[in-house]
Amino acid sequence: METITLTIDGKPVSCMPGTSILNAAKKLGIKIPTLCHHHALLPFGACRLCLVEDEKTGRVMASCVTPALPDMTLRTDSLRIKNHRINIIRLLMAEHPESCLVCNKGNRCKLREIAAHLGISQTDLYPMPHYKPLEQANPFIVRDLNKCILCGTCIRADHELVFVGAIDYNHRGFNCRPATLQDRPLENSQCTLCGTCVSLCPTGALSTRNTTFVGSPERETLSICGFCGVGCCLSLGVAFDRIVETNPSHQEGTVNGSTLCVRGHFAHDFLNSDDRLTSPLIRQNGTRVTTSWENALDIVSDRFLSLKNIYGPQSIAFLGSSKCTNEENYLFQKIARVLLKTNNIDNGGYVSGRSVWNDLERKIGGSRINALTDLEHAGAIFVLGADPTQSVPVVGYYLKKAAKNEVPLLIADPRKTELVSSAGLWLPINPRTDLELINGISALLCEQNTYDAHFIEQFTEGFSLYRESLASINLKKIYQRIGVGEETLKKTASLLQNKKIAFVVGQGVMLQKYGSQCLESMLNLSLMTGSLGDKGGGLYFLARENNHCGAWDMGTVPDSLPGRVSLKNDKGRKEWEGAWRTKLSPDPGLNLVRMIEEAEKGNLKALYIMGENPLRSLPQPERVRKALTNVEFIVVQDILDNETAKIAHVILPGAAPSEKGGSFTNIEGRIQGFDPAVSPPGNAKPDWQILDLLATKMKNPKPFGSLASIRREISHLIPLYADVEKESSWIKETSQKRLFNSGKKGDLIPFCPVVSIDSDTSEADYPFTAILGSLRYHLGSGTRTGRSERIRDFAFKGDIEISPLDAKKMTLNVGDTVRVISPSGIVVRRITIVKTLREGLVFVPMGFNANDARNLIELSLLEEANSPGWKDVRVRIEKVEENF
Ligand code: SF4
Ligand code: SF4
Ligand code: SF4
Ligand code: FES
Repeated sequence: METITLTIDGKPVSCMPGTSILNAAKKLGIKIPTLCHHHALLPFGACRLCLVEDEKTGRVMASCVTPALPDMTLRTDSLRIKNHRINIIRLLMAEHPESCLVCNKGNRCKLREIAAHLGISQTDLYPMPHYKPLEQANPFIVRDLNKCILCGTCIRADHELVFVGAIDYNHRGFNCRPATLQDRPLENSQCTLCGTCVSLCPTGALSTRNTTFVGSPERETLSICGFCGVGCCLSLGVAFDRIVETNPSHQEGTVNGSTLCVRGHFAHDFLNSDDRLTSPLIRQNGTRVTTSWENALDIVSDRFLSLKNIYGPQSIAFLGSSKCTNEENYLFQKIARVLLKTNNIDNGGYVSGRSVWNDLERKIGGSRINALTDLEHAGAIFVLGADPTQSVPVVGYYLKKAAKNEVPLLIADPRKTELVSSAGLWLPINPRTDLELINGISALLCEQNTYDAHFIEQFTEGFSLYRESLASINLKKIYQRIGVGEETLKKTASLLQNKKIAFVVGQGVMLQKYGSQCLESMLNLSLMTGSLGDKGGGLYFLARENNHCGAWDMGTVPDSLPGRVSLKNDKGRKEWEGAWRTKLSPDPGLNLVRMIEEAEKGNLKALYIMGENPLRSLPQPERVRKALTNVEFIVVQDILDNETAKIAHVILPGAAPSEKGGSFTNIEGRIQGFDPAVSPPGNAKPDWQILDLLATKMKNPKPFGSLASIRREISHLIPLYADVEKESSWIKETSQKRLFNSGKKGDLIPFCPVVSIDSDTSEADYPFTAILGSLRYHLGSGTRTGRSERIRDFAFKGDIEISPLDAKKMTLNVGDTVRVISPSGIVVRRITIVKTLREGLVFVPMGFNANDARNLIELSLLEEANSPGWKDVRVRIEKVEENF
């Protein structure tokens, strides 16, 4: 397309047709003042502050909403324009309260900034302030709508960025204000308290609760949110070497742009928790005492080396962290493999179903990770076993956006999740029947001959056999089993017909009883429809932890080396042997569950745990505690004191992401580097430094000495990370190296056999199915968010959800306490009645009450065919009488 040329303030500028005058001026470095404009939002034209004047026609126009035209001759700062701006600001200030000195936005208020720039101090107009009460009941957002200038930014952020629709204009004229439905407080509305509107509001009308009246942060540093696999880019506000505020970075090209969720925005106060570990501790006569780094690391080194010499490398295990950085995980597994000669290495990603996903990876021969922005290019999106608006909320924004742009969104879930309101179709399937559902859809599509013959021919093998198996499927049995009728399933198939499908897969699939088989059936459907590798198509795995992918890439897993090179791959293993000048065993080591099993048997003598809390994250915590008490020597390296640290022999205080440099790899495969914003508390150290010091104690001849040098080694040895060394800061794009590029001879992907499952018989003693899941306030075990005072105060209940029918049968009312009993354990909590929940189901939120929901689940090897899974369990429910 040809560019156009115009003149702004006497300088010519060329731009594409349709470019706004504001953006054309920006190209020349001319800054036009704005109040209602934000690059992440659609142009709006509410405040009129961005006026410019056409010298030829004398026309005055708002530059943010007016497209540049050829031959325009514009002035952005003429006297006439300046006077217009001064009048607009005077009018706004006349109805603004005079509370600037104690306003949280303080020096960052755009209204004040522009007034100062225009030389306006006091307005000579009659003051007409509003007198609306301050709203500060919830612990996150303060609303002082007396300071609202009606720029509409918050409403647009709510509608255009997070797609919640919690607020809109209310009243008219002078009384017009943004408000929730029926003007309820935010906390009693649909608002998810994500804070996106707060960080975009140009005045103090919306501000963050905890920082009210402390003034502006001294500086801001970019970082990455460590709460989930999305990896949102943050701007951390720092005062007195502490993080006092968190906002989205607003940088274009980042995964979250100008959005965040409630955790990312408000839960970072866990960093200042009193539970932070600040000095190395050792256990002496049953109590923990402070010691020096020198002494602590000597003990760790001596004990690990001597236990290895006595019992052999199999007696030692290393549990790394899907929350720690790539550099730290690389170093961690290298110590285990090279210095202690063990492959007994895993990370907390096991809890999110890594081993199940691993099976699938092997089948397709590597990672296929798509960019979240590609979702809007999908032919259809199919969400299975995932509740993204709660667990990975920014993915929820992407899905809602795609649905708004008319991409068919289908959701299969026994519960009516929040995302269902944006979906074209909800399939309320019975628990554990995702596999049957996908098989049924595949059979229907195959019956209609709607498959991608070209893709199948080029990239796959075994289709004929697969097709035959589908033809023998008894669809009637499937309708019955999944609990969704023939008509609905046929409608589903017709919605997916001839479409490239994006499967968005969550823990509900990964952790369920038939997780592996279900993933295989999705792979089959993906291959059949030619979706794998298509822009927006294929499989999106919603990893819960922030560095789930990175820890895996770095080899902090029992069966593969860095770069996801299988230990069984002789060539790949030998290359690593050469690089590290060591011999590596081809036998996979113990995974997390097997470590616990070996501890139970007394075979595990030493365990190094970095950044994980298995006593809270694993099922059957009492069983895990018992097993770990058999281990002779346990080291915990963490930022917070926790249940596992309490039983450790040595505790090493690490640093949070905001206190160290490093990189994380998000669910898309985007590698994002960051620098420290503040220092670690007390004597705590960045984890990579602790590991480097420890390796030196263990006689590693060449310590790394710096983060840069660890990165250098990673970038030289792991092709996917080749760019890490060059990029001191951001790698914004999803690496193309991760995408599907099959098609070479011998690289064909086989269809998996069609598996059908026996129907689960309901046991009389356990008539309910309890589904375990996350709420947006707590993810996973709640270890960090549980240390955020405001999250804890706001969402402390974690009430168990029950259907109205079951509540009636059991004469239960909202607020009653129940005992939920499974064959593995008990949870006691209050209940709430949820109209959309079907009879026979209960929902138990995780992350509350020290994550007691895990009591209900049996600790089993997720990847094994006979595992009952960790996602749902049969239970019975008993009412707890008042005097309990
Ligand atoms: S609350 Fe803030 S963002 Fe919303 S309309 Fe008022 S000034 Fe604008
Ligand atoms: S906090 Fe988030 S959900 Fe609530 S009104 Fe603001 S943008 Fe909407
Ligand atoms: S979506 Fe995930 S990464 Fe983004 S702010 Fe929320 S918790 Fe943090
Ligand atoms: S910034 Fe253009 S009208 Fe507000």
